[in-house]
Amino acid sequence: MKESLLQIKTAAAAELAAGTSTEEVRIKYLGKKGELTAILRSMGGLSADQRPVMGALANEVREYVEGLLSTAAAAEADKLIQSQLDGETIDVTAPGTVTPVGALHPITQCERQLCDIFCSMGFDIAEGFEIETDYYNFQAMNIPENHPARDTQDTFYFTESMLLRTHTSPVQARVMEVQKPPIRIVSPGRVYRSDAVDATHSPAFHQLEGLVVDRGITMGDLRGILEEFARKMFGGETRIRFRPHHFQFTEPSAEVDVSCFVCNSAGCRLCKGEGWIEILGAGMVHPNVLSMAGIDPNVYSGFAFGMGIERIIMTRWGIDDLRLLLENDVRFLRQFG
Ligand code: DAH
Repeated sequence: MKESLLQIKTAAAAELAAGTSTEEVRIKYLGKKGELTAILRSMGGLSADQRPVMGALANEVREYVEGLLSTAAAAEADKLIQSQLDGETIDVTAPGTVTPVGALHPITQCERQLCDIFCSMGFDIAEGFEIETDYYNFQAMNIPENHPARDTQDTFYFTESMLLRTHTSPVQARVMEVQKPPIRIVSPGRVYRSDAVDATHSPAFHQLEGLVVDRGITMGDLRGILEEFARKMFGGETRIRFRPHHFQFTEPSAEVDVSCFVCNSAGCRLCKGEGWIEILGAGMVHPNVLSMAGIDPNVYSGFAFGMGIERIIMTRWGIDDLRLLLENDVRFLRQFG
């Protein structure tokens, strides 16, 4: 038995030195069916004087093997960490991965610029709903049922009376119903029409509405505000021109042109030789629109205007196809970064 015990010492040491795993060695000698365990179990068969001697030796061997195992286990753990570290080396001189930085879409950029310009002139921003009722989209804008003015603004209906708004004008009525004059708001947002996509049409596009209501507001105020806007948007030399027009919700109404900022009205490709570019519709708020929203047209007057944001962008950057703004081709969008 003494030989067997001493043999375990040398064998365990040799096996660990040869690279056998600590787990294997532990099981072979100290496990339930291990060699040392077997010897310890057979201890009962020894004579009374041999038992303490062998017992002491067996314990010494067990401690020795356990010591070997814990040293080897620590070495194994070190080796594992070292191999991980070797595998994860960072080459700080290698070129970095470039994360491309995005930018706001030109429509968002323009919407924000328009809001900034009007806010700098004392306007607040009002928000409306893209899903509107027939009442706000049409009736409150002085477009009764079956009126031919509805023909140019066909849209998508959820029910008889719920639809996708065709313009931002309904925000006028919504604001006037809850806010007493003085009112000075702009309202940007998406609008919808039942139009097929082509170079100048899209079933979804964006507008910016403007509304001012107070005592004694005149068309002179409208003109002053729009002149200032045109200069801030298209450059300090820009002039504006009113052409008579008809809108149901304003009286009188006008279409408003800016002088072409490319040729300064001499006539060029951008303005198609006209010298002027149409950018918005405007007018004095119709008395019916005021009174339907609960504002007395004998006390207050106001002006309103509405512009297409895509059209402003196309004019400003000389873009001749609206679809470029819808397709999200980064080669196009990158130019607005
Ligand atoms: N709502 C009109 C449209 O979508 C644009 C417009 C014209 C708005 C004149 C106005 C306005 O506020 O006064 O075609």
